[in-house]
Amino acid sequence: MDNLQLDFLGDLKRTHTCGDLRASDAGKRALVMGWVHRRRDLGGVIFIHLRDRYGVTQLVFHENVAPEVHARAEALGGEYVIAAEGVVEARSAETINPAIPTGEVEIAVSRIWILNESRVPPFPLEETVDVKEDVRLKYRYVDLRRPHMQRNILMRSKVSLAVREVLYGLGFLEIETPFMTKSTPEGARDFLVPSRVQHGMFYALPQSPQIFKQLLMVSGFDKYFQIVRCFRDEDLRADRQYEFTQIDLEMSFPQQETIFGVIEPLVQKVCETAGHPVPAAPFQRMSYADAIRLYGIDKPDLRLPPMTSFEFEFQGFQTPMPFVAIRIPGIGKPSRKERDELKLIAQEKSLVMFDEGSKTEAMYAAAREKSGAAADDMILVVAHTGPMRSWRPEEAFYQSCGQFRLHVGQKFAERHKLLDPHNFKFLWVVDFPMFEWDDEENRWAAAHHPFTSVHDEDLKRLTSDPGACRAKSYDLVLNGTELGSGSIRIHRKDVQAKVFAALGFSDEDARKKFGYLLEGLEYGAPPHGGIALGLDRLVMIMAGESSIREVIPFPKTARGTDLMSDCPSPANERTLRELGIKLASKV
Ligand code: AMO
Repeated sequence: MDNLQLDFLGDLKRTHTCGDLRASDAGKRALVMGWVHRRRDLGGVIFIHLRDRYGVTQLVFHENVAPEVHARAEALGGEYVIAAEGVVEARSAETINPAIPTGEVEIAVSRIWILNESRVPPFPLEETVDVKEDVRLKYRYVDLRRPHMQRNILMRSKVSLAVREVLYGLGFLEIETPFMTKSTPEGARDFLVPSRVQHGMFYALPQSPQIFKQLLMVSGFDKYFQIVRCFRDEDLRADRQYEFTQIDLEMSFPQQETIFGVIEPLVQKVCETAGHPVPAAPFQRMSYADAIRLYGIDKPDLRLPPMTSFEFEFQGFQTPMPFVAIRIPGIGKPSRKERDELKLIAQEKSLVMFDEGSKTEAMYAAAREKSGAAADDMILVVAHTGPMRSWRPEEAFYQSCGQFRLHVGQKFAERHKLLDPHNFKFLWVVDFPMFEWDDEENRWAAAHHPFTSVHDEDLKRLTSDPGACRAKSYDLVLNGTELGSGSIRIHRKDVQAKVFAALGFSDEDARKKFGYLLEGLEYGAPPHGGIALGLDRLVMIMAGESSIREVIPFPKTARGTDLMSDCPSPANERTLRELGIKLASKV
C-alpha cells in the first residue's frame, strides 16, 4: 500500500491478548495488538479478526466511528500488524461465534494504530490448505504462524519445561558442556570447525555430550542433565536432522532400574503435559533377543502382534530356519492382487511367501493355531530362501521377516486404522549385544559405544566369544521409534582395556581418541550410567506428526539445506585464507 502512514508503538501497552476477552469483560476498555487475520467489509461496518499466539478477537468498526479510523481500517491488508483500542461489547445471541473462546464479545474500535504493513503471504495461513514443504521452509517465519505449527512449538516448549520440572524435582543439576570439542564416539560423521589460530586443526561439534557427562560423574555431580543440541553428519530422514536435541542425563551409582525409574515418571509427565493418557509404569521390558525373534527389529511396534515361528514339514522344502506366521488382526484375507504384490516384496527380502490353498492347508492351519489367530485375522506364512550372508544368520532371517511384517502392517494400516498414533506402547529393549561384526573393517565394533559395560556374567568371554556378550545397554522404544538409548558405563580401567582389546584398538589408538576420558576414569570414577532421549522424536509423537521437521522451528531439508537462509553457502576467500583452508575444487 503506497503512502500508508505507519504509527510508532510509542508508549502503547496491550491490556489484553487476542485470546483473553470473555462475556464478563463487556463494558471494559481494551487495547489489543496483533496480526490482521481476516477482514470483512460490510458496506459501512468493517469486521476484523485480529490474531496473536493466544487466539483471535473480533474488532468491529461501526458506521459512526471517526472517518479517519474507518479509512485506516479500510486500508488494512492481511497480516498487517496493528493496535486497536475500544470498548468490549457483548455480541447479540445470533452473532456469537462458538468456534473461538472470545466468540461472545467483540471490541468496538475507536482508535487504531498501524504498526506495520505486510506483503501478501506466500501461502494462506489456514490449516486446511496444503502447502509444499519447500515453500513452507523458505518462508518458515510465516509457516510458523499456522495453527498446527503454533501448537507444535508451544507443545515443545511445555514438554521441555515438564522435563526440567521432573528432573530438578529429582535432584538433577542442569550443567552445560562444550560445543567445540574433540570427536565423540557416537559413530556418525563429525561436523568440523577449523581453528583460525592453529591452521590444520579442527574442533568437532559434539555428536552427544557423552564423554563430558561421564567426566561430570568423576567430578561428583551425581545427577546431571541437559537439554542439549547434538550434531551428526548422517543421512537425513523423517526422524533425523543434522542438529537435533537430546534430553541427556547421567547418574552415579545407578542400577539399570535406577535410570528407568527416572525416565518412566518423566515420560508420564510429558504425556500428561501433551494432553495424552498417562501410560502405566513400569513400562514393558523385552530382551534384544526376544525383540528380534518376535518382531524382527530392535524397536518393535507393539501395536501389531508379534510374529510366530513354527516348525513344519512341507513337501521337502529345505531351510535351516523355522516358518514364520505374520498376523494382522481383523482384516480378513488379502486379495489376489495384494497377495501377488506381497509375494514380490517377500522375494526381495530372501523370503518365500506361501499362498493359502489346498496344498498349504495344513501349514496355514498350524500357523493359525500357533499364532492364536481369530477367524478374521489375516495370516501370511513366510520361510527363508536363498543363501545367508550374515555372521548371525538367524538374526538376519528374523530381521527380513520383521521388515516384511512392517511392510504388511503399513500397507494395510491406513485402510484398516491399525496404527492409532495416540495408542502409546512404550517398551524398554534391554540386553543388547555388546559388539557387532563390522564386515567392511573386518573387526568387532561397539554396538552402543565403547564405554558400555558388559553383563557381569559375560565378562569372562569378552575375548573368547565377543559375539555372545551382552551389554548393559537399553533403548526406550515407542510405537516403532527409538526414542532414547543409554547404558551403564565402564568405570574401571582394567575392564575398559579388555573392551578396547576386543574392539581391536591398541592402547595408543584408544589414548589418541578418548585419552582424556580414560585418564579421567583413573581418578576415582564412580560406577555410572545414563541415557539420552531424542526430544524432537518425543515431541513429534506427542504432536501426532510423522516428521521431526514439524516440531523443529527451523529445520533443514532432506538434503541438509536451510532454504530460508540459503545455507550451506560458500565462504569468502579471505575467511578461507585466515583459516588456512584451500579448496580442492572451486564451488
Ligand atoms: P544415541 O546415539 O542412541 O545415544 O542417541 C540418543 C537419541 O537421540 C536421538 N537421535 C536423533 N534425533 C534426531 N536426529 C538425529 N540425527 C538423531 N540421532 C540420535 C534418538 C536417539 O535414541 N550418548 C548416547 C546416549 C547415552 O548413552 O547416554 C547417545 O547419544 O532419539
